[in-house]
Amino acid sequence: MLKVDELTKNYGDLVAVDQISFEAGKGTVFGLLGPNGAGKSTAINCISGLLRPTSGHASVAGHDVVSDGKAARQNLGVVPQELALYEDLPAIENLRYWGKAYGLRGAELDSRVSEVLDTIGLVDRAKDLPKEFSGGMKRRLNFGCGIVHKPPVILLDEPTVGVDPQSRARLFDMVEAARDAGACVLYTTHYMEEAERLCDSLAIIDNGKLIAKGTVNELRAKLSARDVLQLNGTFPLDETRQAVDTLIERDDLDLEVITQEEECVTLTLSRASQHLPDIFAVISNAGGVVTETILRSPNLETLFLLLTGKELRE
Ligand SMILES: Nc1ncnc2c1ncn2[C@@H]1O[C@H](COP(=O)(O)OP(=O)(O)O)[C@@H](O)[C@H]1O
Ligand SMILES: [Mg+2]
Repeated sequence: MLKVDELTKNYGDLVAVDQISFEAGKGTVFGLLGPNGAGKSTAINCISGLLRPTSGHASVAGHDVVSDGKAARQNLGVVPQELALYEDLPAIENLRYWGKAYGLRGAELDSRVSEVLDTIGLVDRAKDLPKEFSGGMKRRLNFGCGIVHKPPVILLDEPTVGVDPQSRARLFDMVEAARDAGACVLYTTHYMEEAERLCDSLAIIDNGKLIAKGTVNELRAKLSARDVLQLNGTFPLDETRQAVDTLIERDDLDLEVITQEEECVTLTLSRASQHLPDIFAVISNAGGVVTETILRSPNLETLFLLLTGKELRE
């Protein structure tokens, strides 16, 4: 339903989206995961026709978003990161506006608008103005406006940012309901746990580049049985580097360095807990002082750390 092929978007010298490719089918949620500035919104804006790709292609339900843009957009529901609401127009009129914009009329429009009000949990607030709504309610209405015409492909750009836990749970339910009804959902987020919970498959992007792609289980398998060990404290740079090098040479540890800084050393290795005493001894011989030890089992956050050497939420 959604196909993105070597999509690239430059802003002057900056390559915001760099040759990313992925496909997503009916009845699935595909995640686009990456930190702020990774290029998620730029990719979505290219697919929705708001931006023209510098090179590469994207198609929606078989329609190229550039050469066959009108047909592509008829199959698309877009829920932008920036709220697209008329603050002084009652919630129900916002929905009617977007329904009409997508060609709904008469009884069909009425019935879809009441269905959507129910889905987004705003039946009681239908006549109220969005400017009086909480952040979560606005996000829900924003979502409603994007799906009022029952699009087969839905683009959701960071729908849970600034949202209270209750609205967040409701948004998850709404995404799952749309998926179960057969929609293809592209979901962007910088929250790992959302991607792990909602997405059938996902792509991780950083600096515009796709750095990993697959199902959540496939991505987890890439980490096999490795643990991530983060040591906080004070670590003289050169001495610690030499000490860590001796650890890297040891076959029994299978150790790699993710980051080595003066106040924090992050390593990945197999069965870390068995090797902690050894590692502490080597680090402290090099003059390092450990004040805190964090051992993480592999998850998507770790995978991101491994691939990029940085935390997802910087
Ligand atoms: N209109 C623009 N002009 C110039 N640079 C932009 C513009 N929009 C976004 N960028 C840059 O492109 C990169 C990707 O941004 P964006 O797609 O918004 O990332 P994300 O949505 O993942 O946070 C960032 O470095 C951002 O600063
Ligand atoms: Mg964005």
